[in-house]
Amino acid sequence: MKIAVIQGPNLNMLGIREQNIYGPMTIDQIHEQMKGSASQNGVELEFFQSNLEGEIVDKIQECLGTVDGIIINPAAYTHTSIAIADALSAVNIPTVEVHISNIYKREEFRQKSLTAKSSLGVITGFGPFGYHMALMAITQIVSEMKAAKEAQQKAQAQVSQAQK
Ligand code: DQA
Repeated sequence: MKIAVIQGPNLNMLGIREQNIYGPMTIDQIHEQMKGSASQNGVELEFFQSNLEGEIVDKIQECLGTVDGIIINPAAYTHTSIAIADALSAVNIPTVEVHISNIYKREEFRQKSLTAKSSLGVITGFGPFGYHMALMAITQIVSEMKAAKEAQQKAQAQVSQAQK
């Protein structure tokens, strides 16, 4: 199973930016922790960070046919980007949205996520641990979807065999 981890603008500044909100961990440290738990579950991770909306849209489109799931923190684009929401809906890959801070406890403009409707669910406010929670959720969901697909294919094969 392969999962893309897509990080939006200013998340490359984690560890430096507003530590009182986002904590001291850098993006590389968060990714290292994720790699540790992913490898235990046979999950391959691909990491991508961009400060540019169009690059994030391109990356989401590239995910089509190449990954099984997406974990995304669209950062400030969460609150503004119809383009990212549309890209996520277009590829229709199981997606979990993550926010380090609790966006519902912050300024009013952060309390609306335009991208959330294109995700299975949103994890917000648990700090960097939210990425770990998202990884657990997406791993479980993708495994269940794969198992359901295999069971359906098996049942279909049995039906066509019986019809012969
Ligand atoms: C964020 C919340 C956003 O409102 C903000 O613009 C970010 C980070 C979070 O992870 O808490 O850059 O997505």
